[in-house]
Amino acid sequence: MPIEDKIKQLVALRAEARLGGGEKRIESQHGKGKLTARERLELLLDEGSFEEFDMFVRHRCNNFGLEKESYPGDGVVTGFGTIEGRLVYVFSQDFTVFGGSLSEMFAKKICKVMEMAMKMGAPVIGINDSGGARIQEGVMSLAGYADIFQQNINASGVIPQISAIFGPCAGGAVYSPALTDFNIMSKDTSYMFVTGPKVVKSVTGETVTTEELGGAKVHSTKSGVAHFVSDNEQEGIKLIRKLVTYLPQNNMEDPPLVACTDPVNRKEKALNEIIPDNPNKPYDIKKVIELIVDDRDFLEVHKDFAPNIVTAFARFNGMSVGVVANQPAFLAGVLDINASRKAARFVRFCDAFNIPLVTLVDVPGFLPGTAQEYGGIILHGAKLLYAYGEATVPKVCVTLRKSYGGAHDVMSSKQLRGDINYAWPSAEIAVMGPKGAIEVLEGKAISQIKDPVELNKFIAEKEEEYRVKFANPYNAASVGFIDDVIIPENTRIRIIKALMSLATKKDVNPPKKHSNIPL
Ligand code: HXC
Repeated sequence: MPIEDKIKQLVALRAEARLGGGEKRIESQHGKGKLTARERLELLLDEGSFEEFDMFVRHRCNNFGLEKESYPGDGVVTGFGTIEGRLVYVFSQDFTVFGGSLSEMFAKKICKVMEMAMKMGAPVIGINDSGGARIQEGVMSLAGYADIFQQNINASGVIPQISAIFGPCAGGAVYSPALTDFNIMSKDTSYMFVTGPKVVKSVTGETVTTEELGGAKVHSTKSGVAHFVSDNEQEGIKLIRKLVTYLPQNNMEDPPLVACTDPVNRKEKALNEIIPDNPNKPYDIKKVIELIVDDRDFLEVHKDFAPNIVTAFARFNGMSVGVVANQPAFLAGVLDINASRKAARFVRFCDAFNIPLVTLVDVPGFLPGTAQEYGGIILHGAKLLYAYGEATVPKVCVTLRKSYGGAHDVMSSKQLRGDINYAWPSAEIAVMGPKGAIEVLEGKAISQIKDPVELNKFIAEKEEEYRVKFANPYNAASVGFIDDVIIPENTRIRIIKALMSLATKKDVNPPKKHSNIPL
């Protein structure tokens, strides 16, 4: 065959591969409000940067008539490209081919890009849209999943791994996204569950819809499986592009430094007035974050899950940081099971990828009650404590108001190797709040006062005495646990100077096989 014909043949083969499961199925995909696997990659990667692998791979299965049906590429589009000029490896499951179901060869394609990503030290982004294990392939498909899981585990903490869920993701298939660092789900078109509504009905008798069982809302508010939710796929892809700009390529690199045009010494008078006079009144910690970070811009992770703690990527003087902040506007910023899990995972991600931590503290303590105790708040709270204590990245902490009890220790305290710990003059650092403390310390005296007016006066006096003595930052500052008490309006420049001074920080943990975090 002359070379021109060979080239024509190649072009035709490529065109066939690009059609996936064919025009009709592409139409049906669009009809569901979904993009195709290739359209998603086009949006995700810089224009013209995508280089595809394994377009001609086909399955090797001869069961249930599959020997008569095969598609080049076998249901997943893989390769590499760039996001803002930086290398990333990608795979995108193609629902138009056997419902995006995972075969032996499909899994091999994914494992290939993951292995390359590890060698090259570049992030992996996987787009999930699949009916799960390809039923006709039986155990070969299950083995394929397990091969991917092993790659996910090997890559964990070495390269950033990001999963988008833009369709079904059910059964064991959920565990690959679960092993990755971030999951993004699109509203109304994606779901994740270990067993679907029919199995749920037969096993537990519960009647539940797909959306109620594993839709984006459930996983972003109740389970915490989804770190981000997008209104549609386009928004989700934009979000991934933004997320990777905060991250290094791998655990041996620092995150990219971005040019900062926001004045580093920008004073914010509003910060001086943000703490209400009444210590029990809430305020929005996100306003504080907005006022101190570069360009008032931050990317919240797990926005709707455990909103009593805020976790976000932001920049100070162009440096990427992870911000962890108690949110007094929700449950008074208390630490509960979900807040502890959420923040612990975020702190560990930042530490694994050399992203400094900036912690803003206003925490009344851990949430009391049987629900929390039975749910294991002891273990979950310990996760956050562990994560902070284990982290060797630069740790800057500012205590804005309350920092009570065990929660004080947990939130990036000096004793957990906090590098620079500042407090606002409004900080209250003590074993507990004045009310609780006086109930314990003056219990006997309180029980003996019968006149309610006198009782209130006594309690108010004692609380004030306690407040003056303990509910301030100066006790902690007098022993060096707080490095300086700062004027709130200067918070941005003080954090920037602190981070700059810590840029060369080196700290290590004792050698070990791995740690044993209380899971
Ligand atoms: C082979 C599959 C498939 C699968 C879908 N298809 N899932 N082929 N193996 N797992 C095929 C269909 O036959 C159909 O082929 C095409 O994909 C589109 O599927 P539809 O059912 O027409 O689409 P839709 O109505 O949108 O429903 C999507 C779906 C449904 C909800 C995902 O297909 C479904 O329930 N699939 C089975 C899901 C499942 O039980 N998977 C196994 C889970 S257990 P044609 O030729 O008509 O286009 C598992 C274990 C993993 O995954 C373990 C890892 C450790």
